[in-house]
Parts: sequence; C-alpha cells; structure tokens
Amino acid sequence: MTQPAPSDINRVLLIGGTGSIGRLVAARLLDLGRLPRVLTRDPARARRSLPAGVEVVAGELADPTAVRAAVAGVDAVVMTHGAPYGSGDYAAVDYGAVPAVLDALDGHRLPVVLMSSIGVTATGGQSRELLEWKRRGERLLRASGLPYTIVRPGWFDAGSSSHQQVDLRQGDLTEYGPVRRDHVAETIVQALLTPSARGRTVEVFSADGPIITDWAGAFLAAEPDRPGDLDGARDRPGPRPEAEPERVRTDLQRHAHIPPTPDI
Ligand SMILES: NC(=O)c1ccc[n+]([C@@H]2O[C@H](COP(=O)([O-])OP(=O)(O)OC[C@H]3O[C@@H](n4cnc5c(N)ncnc54)[C@H](OP(=O)(O)O)[C@@H]3O)[C@@H](O)[C@H]2O)c1
Repeated sequence: MTQPAPSDINRVLLIGGTGSIGRLVAARLLDLGRLPRVLTRDPARARRSLPAGVEVVAGELADPTAVRAAVAGVDAVVMTHGAPYGSGDYAAVDYGAVPAVLDALDGHRLPVVLMSSIGVTATGGQSRELLEWKRRGERLLRASGLPYTIVRPGWFDAGSSSHQQVDLRQGDLTEYGPVRRDHVAETIVQALLTPSARGRTVEVFSADGPIITDWAGAFLAAEPDRPGDLDGARDRPGPRPEAEPERVRTDLQRHAHIPPTPDI
C-alpha cells in the first residue's frame, strides 16, 4: 500500500488499540515511524499482543484522570474501541469514549479519527441500540469542530480476503458489505495522515478493483460533512438534539462549536 503524505503527526493515542483493528493500526503506525500509545484496561495483556515499540498506558474510559494522562503530549487520537456485543455497555464505551476524549483534550484541536460502523443511520435491526450510541458519538465529534474523520467499516473479514480494493462510500446506504480488517486499519491510518480526510465521513468496504494509490484524492472525492450539521454529508437526517437522551444533550451543549471549513 502507498505511504501517507508527510505529516507532523508523530505520537498517536489509540483508544481501542488492543482490539482486532486497533492492533493493526498500531503496527502500521510503527511501520511508518510514528509512536502509537495504547490506552488499555489490562497493560500486561496489551504488552503481550502488541509489537515492541508501542507505548502502553493503563486506564479505562470512565476514569477522566487516566484519559487526560493518555492524551497528554499526543499529536492525534484514533478511536477503534467498542464494548462487547450484548454487553449493553454501549453508552459508556462506544459513545462514552467520545466525550471522554473531548473532556481530556479540553479544547486542544488535534486530529481525531473515529471508527464507527455501517448501519448507524438505519432504523431497526437487532444491533440498533449499539448503532444508535455509535451514531451519537459520531454526531458529538462532528459538533466538536475538531479536525476529525469518521470511518464506518462494513463487516470485518466476511469473505473479503481476496478483494484488493479499498472501496470508500458515503450515505450509509449499504446494509451489508464485507471489509478486510487490514483495509479498515489502512483507511484509518491514511485518514489520520491525510489532510483532505478531515471533516469527512466514509464507509469502507473491500471489493474487486484497483487499489487506491492516491489517498489524498480518494478523500477529496468524498463530500465533506456540512459544518454545523450533526450528520454525515450524505446521511439520512438523524434525530433532533432535543430528542436525544439527556446525557447526549448535555455533552452537545458542552462540546459543540461552530466547526471551521475542513482543511483540504
Ligand atoms: N465485527 C464487525 O464486523 C464490525 C463491523 C463494523 C464495526 N464494528 C465495531 O468495531 C468495534 C471494535 O472492533 P474490534 O474488533 O477492533 O475491537 P475488539 O477486538 O472487540 O476490542 C475492543 C477494544 O475496545 C477497548 N475497550 C472496551 N471497553 C473499554 C473501556 N471501558 N475503556 C477502554 N478501552 C475499552 C478494548 O480495550 P482493552 O480491553 O485493552 O481495555 C479493546 O481495545 C466494535 O465496537 C464493533 O461494533 C465491528
């Protein structure tokens, strides 16, 4: 795969860096000479599963002191976390990571890449509660005005191993589509290191077709999210903020800023 454009981004906090995608992101950042720092609840397990050179810091999302310590000195944040399916911890983890990071950043404008999921704007389905909390996290991040990218993967490694092409889409219109985990990780890393990815929301799948050699162009071809809009550029409109749970309304009031035009 191609090398990302040069960038000032060096030390990168990974929330979810021990997960099946986060580990690939950490390894790829190391390959590119960056310094990944992983926040984990279990540092001993993390050290066993991560390559040497990855900094491991102990903590959990519900501990503001730990998250503040984890963001100290980083140039960017990547979030690939998630509560186990069926745990019901989606508000605390899938959503909660976003306000936790915004609180810890305390107004510092760092690039943030958030991994979410396809299907967040759909209605119905058995994963609805999980996906609604992920969508709320997306919306809070957009409202924050930080230079973000939101990456929504399809289904991990679901019969996509021979597909060479990273297929970026928008509008959350694909109900089911496979994506290779390494394609998800590469898209996240490229989004982090490519200025034209800022302010954009993309779905990522794997397909048959040419590989992306021009990531800056690929992100530029995606429609930017409208500044001030909680939803992704081509998304079906989500609920009005007044219809969200109280916690989300409070977080939106605390963290919403008029976002600047995305850097391109
Ligand atoms: N499976 C699919 O096809 C698919 C498709 C689209 C999206 N997704 C989404 O992808 C997400 C994660 O995928 P994955 O497979 O990479 O993750 P994973 O292997 O399940 O790992 C979850 C990560 O979240 C972290 N985490 C969980 N609770 C935490 C807490 N309270 N504080 C700090 N960190 C916490 C874990 O860190 P520690 O355990 O080290 O603390 C771990 O790094 C899921 O949310 C899922 O909904 C999945």
